[in-house]
Amino acid sequence: MAKHFKLDLSQRPRRLRRTAGRRALVAETVVRAQDLIAPLFVIDGKGAPEPISSMPGVARFNITDLVEECRELYALGVLAVALFPKLDAKLKDELGTQALNKKTLILRAVRAVKAALPELTVITDVALDPYTSHGHDGVLNAAKDDVDNDRTVAILCEMAILQAEAGVDFVAPSDMMDGRVGAVRKALDAAGYTDVGILAYSAKYNSAYYGPFREAVGSAQAAGTRLLSKATYQMNPANRREALHEVLLDVEEGADIVMVKPAGLYLDIIREVRDAVECPVAAYQISGEYAQIHAAAKLGWLDLVRSRDESLLAIKRAGADLILTYFAKDVAKALGKS
Ligand code: PBG
Repeated sequence: MAKHFKLDLSQRPRRLRRTAGRRALVAETVVRAQDLIAPLFVIDGKGAPEPISSMPGVARFNITDLVEECRELYALGVLAVALFPKLDAKLKDELGTQALNKKTLILRAVRAVKAALPELTVITDVALDPYTSHGHDGVLNAAKDDVDNDRTVAILCEMAILQAEAGVDFVAPSDMMDGRVGAVRKALDAAGYTDVGILAYSAKYNSAYYGPFREAVGSAQAAGTRLLSKATYQMNPANRREALHEVLLDVEEGADIVMVKPAGLYLDIIREVRDAVECPVAAYQISGEYAQIHAAAKLGWLDLVRSRDESLLAIKRAGADLILTYFAKDVAKALGKS
């Protein structure tokens, strides 16, 4: 029976998968180097790159090495970087004072990168977590049991102006305070920076997967205290409609690009946001997503390259136009070879 059995089918979808050539011809999604934004960490001094143990292949660079890394990325076709400072613990205080120091690390880093590579798009976070001793994204209220929304936004506006002055292309408010996109837009415009854009972390979830990043920027100090949780400002992972509400508010307030973060666990949100707005949508494949893939690969449980590529393809397919990913350089290199 089995030998002569033939189904009478007009549609055989496998025909399109028969050869590598046919598969490539009908591929619906492609990840290109220019879709990727590389997050990079910067430190002061002249020391060697400091590896981050939970993020294999990622290191904190001094400014000189950072410029070199940016140069390599740009040559590989990665057109944008997102810079994060790691401050010395003794420079941090409750109010995140260093964020408004005109000579603070991130501003010097931006100037150096833009001087060397004026065409590279440079993005900087507008949030206080690298600067506060408690590791929160804003300043605390009088009772010290929550972040003070409006006082924090006032500081963010000043930070954004300093970053614009240093030459960034986009500021990226990442703290999820209410009204910060509109306030930052107004502040930038009033200071004459109408060309500096806003990449808004619009739907940023209170995720367990930020751990390795907090090691990288040293913002995990709040661990073990009652102030550990960022749940009063970052979104509840249970919520979908709320993400659309946040995104639409940010668009109304003047965001140029909206972002969903994390990416891989929130593909449904990326798709809904892509369908709801006309502006570019970014997604941040965060430190824990990167660490997870590397950890499994190290144990021999997953193939690093295949799981990496599939993770990015899924994020793009879900609707992200741009992906922030720690894999940016490796992927750009691989694309260059293929
Ligand atoms: C906070 C900020 C976070 C990340 C970037 N900016 C998360 C947080 O500590 O709450 C996370 C990025 C990552 O995990 O890769 N302003």
